[in-house]
Formats: sequence, structure tokens, C-alpha cells
Amino acid sequence: MTTQQEEQVTTTNTAEVDYATETPSEVMNRRVFMGSMIGIFGAVMAAVAAGPLLSYLWPPKSTAIKIDKLVLGKVAEFPAGTSKNFKFGSIPALFIHSPDGSMHAFNATCSHLGCTVQYQTAKNNIYCACHGGTYDPATGNVVAGPPPEGLHKLLASVEAGEIVIRPEKAGAKA
Ligand code: FES
Repeated sequence: MTTQQEEQVTTTNTAEVDYATETPSEVMNRRVFMGSMIGIFGAVMAAVAAGPLLSYLWPPKSTAIKIDKLVLGKVAEFPAGTSKNFKFGSIPALFIHSPDGSMHAFNATCSHLGCTVQYQTAKNNIYCACHGGTYDPATGNVVAGPPPEGLHKLLASVEAGEIVIRPEKAGAKA
């Protein structure tokens, strides 16, 4: 490389980083560009932050699967003192054949923060392991712990030797 070529390269490199030689319009163009980029970045960040808020204010339509009837199984499969967690449509549900012979069914979603509850045979109660919520196995009412309200009931009946589960009221939230 000749001395003249080296000088040209040096001059070119210096011109790329020498902001002092920029004309006012070049400075303005750079500021406009940077301002636009910051604006676009801010808009994207605002959209990301607004998504959860908007879905909270206008939740999407429920995709819950609703059913009117479910045959759980033969009565003989559930002797007194047993229970079964199952799905009623898309909701978790709980069937209990109490030691006294009565049958009960509930939406098994804890009213506190939505964990799935279980029947405790030894204590004859419905228990939520997340925070210790306890419910009455006959009524679904809260007995202890943080749940603000009882469990939603389902109807459990025996039809032709089978346990059949239905919503408490036709069309009611299960
Ligand atoms: S979610 Fe059941 S007690 Fe908290």
C-alpha cells in the first residue's frame, strides 16, 4: 500500500467517526432516526405491557366444555367411604360416597386460588393442599383455611345401578 493510499484510508476512516464535521442536516437526520427508533421501541414495550391488562379487562370467551350428564361408573365400584376425582366436561370434579352412605359431588376447584381439592377419607373432609383450605364433604361449605366461599355443588344420583353426575341446575355453572 502506498503512502497516498494509506492517507486516503485514514481520511476515510476518520470521516466515518468524526461527528464534528457533520452538517446540521446530517445531525438532524440522525436525531430524527434515533427519535423514531426510541418511539418504535417504546410503542412495542407499551403493547407488550398492555396485553395482559387488556385480556384481564376483556377476557376471551370461555373455552370450557360444558356437559349435562356424566356416568361415573357402577355403584359397586364406589363403596361408602371412597371418593373419586374426575373431569366433568373441562372442570375438575370430586365425587364422595360418604361413610354414612350419602353421595355428594362438587366442582373440585378451590375457591381460594383454584387448586384442585381432594377428599380425605381418614378425616372425612375435603382438603386443599395448597394452603390448607378445608371443606365439609356433605355441603361443600368452608370449614377452615383461607377459601372465601364453599365449593360449587354437582348432583350425584344413582340411575340403573350407575352413579350419574349432573350440574346442580340445568345450565348452571358447574
Ligand atoms: S388454593 Fe385452596 S386453600 Fe389456597
